[in-house]
Amino acid sequence: MLDAGDMFGQRTRIEREQTRFLCEVHSEFGYDAIGLGEMDLNYGIDFLREMIEQYGLPYTSANVRDGSGELILPEFLMVERAGFKIGVCSVLDAEQRILTMSAQDEEYTVDEPLSVLRDLLPRMRAAGAQTVVVIAHLGDQKAEQLLNDVTGVDVCLVGHSRRPFRSERLVDRTSLISSSFEGRYLGRMDVDLGVSGDLKAFDVTILELGEEIADDPIMLDRVNKFKEHLEEFRLVARGPYQPTKGSDKESFLTERECRKCHTDVWEALRESTHQVAFTTLARKGQAQSPECLVCHTTGYLYMNGYDDQPPRNRLTNVQCEACHGYGTEHSRDGSWLAQARASCVSCHDQENSPEFDYDAYWAKIAH
Ligand code: HEC
Ligand code: HEC
Ligand code: HEC
Ligand code: HEC
Repeated sequence: MLDAGDMFGQRTRIEREQTRFLCEVHSEFGYDAIGLGEMDLNYGIDFLREMIEQYGLPYTSANVRDGSGELILPEFLMVERAGFKIGVCSVLDAEQRILTMSAQDEEYTVDEPLSVLRDLLPRMRAAGAQTVVVIAHLGDQKAEQLLNDVTGVDVCLVGHSRRPFRSERLVDRTSLISSSFEGRYLGRMDVDLGVSGDLKAFDVTILELGEEIADDPIMLDRVNKFKEHLEEFRLVARGPYQPTKGSDKESFLTERECRKCHTDVWEALRESTHQVAFTTLARKGQAQSPECLVCHTTGYLYMNGYDDQPPRNRLTNVQCEACHGYGTEHSRDGSWLAQARASCVSCHDQENSPEFDYDAYWAKIAH
């Protein structure tokens, strides 16, 4: 049983918590090998190692190195089935950027898959591999290109691809399989091996895990419990910055809504640094920090305000409603103007904006 990588989530604290759960469950599925995808380093090498240790995940990568030039994972794995020794290795696209969530970005180098495989495949054979499986975390086109230039691969599992291969595919003498992403499909390859472990024939089935496959009641229960935990985690992670202000009945409509009628104002504010306040945090690696989000997003302390999950993740930056309040409360009696004038100092406080002077600052964003 193989996985072609990118099991880990996006670079947010919430998805990291979700990834822990995924790893726990994956450990019970009994994988033989998991190829490294660039997403699997989203939370840094320490987190990946922690998951590998805690859940016994058989990650492998033949071409990702850390800052000191060492491979970060086992170069290949050997699996025994039905008396055959099957060598499994994995290569990542050298053009993939590896970004981690931590502010101090870790350094990685990714060796060119072709030269890596040319060197590695004979060594896998020498180590006793009768059948060779390559997990190519390259997407389908690059994987096929690679296989045209390298010999000695029996089966190639393609990762970083969004399309499942619904029928048998052969490149040179290698059979390919890909089963898409997000666990939507389960790919199965039945193989007929010769006495020496060489591939004689194969058959591919792609099973869609849709409605017709019933949910496992025990797993469903665990998933639901986990979702409750995640809700709690989400709130706890905010620390003292809970969304308690305002009202649950009101919403922020986002600046796109305001723009429809106030195009001139929107144009006037396009160049304002308020428009990049969130990017500023991201550049500092602090896009997840509640203590910063409170002033660099819209409505963080308000019910229905910014949150890193859709749809409210559209409330990044200091948008119209950060000063004017809930769009659903749109008022034209002057009270909104007073409220907006008073809003500045909730963010432009002594610590973060010591130079703040209403007239001088307003002049820069007057509209
Ligand atoms: C929700 C918090 C918030 C509110 C409310 C807010 N600001 Fe800001 N403001 C910021 C942040 C954050 C930045 C820095 C953005 C960056 O550089 O990424 C900023 C930057 C600015 C700048 C640019 C400073 C410079 O020299 O480049 C001006 C001008 C400004 N704000 C004026 C105002 C005025 C006037 C008000 C009230 C009418 C106001 N702001 C209300 C958060 C806020
Ligand atoms: C109380 C509101 C508030 C909080 C909390 C806050 N900021 Fe800001 N931040 C501002 C405002 C307002 C400005 C614009 C200051 C100005 O130009 O006068 C700003 C500007 C900045 C800038 C650009 C100006 C510069 O110095 O280069 C950076 C970077 C920044 N903030 C990062 C952060 C980070 C990181 C955090 C969390 C650790 C944070 N901020 C928390 C309100 C806040
Ligand atoms: C940084 C805070 C801030 C942001 C962001 C902001 N405004 Fe304002 N806005 C104000 C303030 C303060 C006033 C009132 C100025 C005054 O009359 O003293 C105002 C006034 C207005 C007015 C009345 C103008 C007039 O002269 O009648 C409109 C309309 C308006 N804003 C729309 C918007 C829209 C739309 C956006 C987003 C594209 C936006 N504002 C973003 C603070 C803000
Ligand atoms: C359907 C059109 C429409 C949309 C959408 C809209 N507005 Fe308005 N808004 C108006 C009209 C019309 C006025 C009154 C005439 C004027 O001052 O331009 C007004 C007035 C205002 C005023 C001045 C209020 C006052 O008391 O004088 C502000 C501030 C304002 N809008 C902000 C916003 C913000 C922020 C959004 C987005 C959440 C928004 N508007 C969305 C039509 C709209």
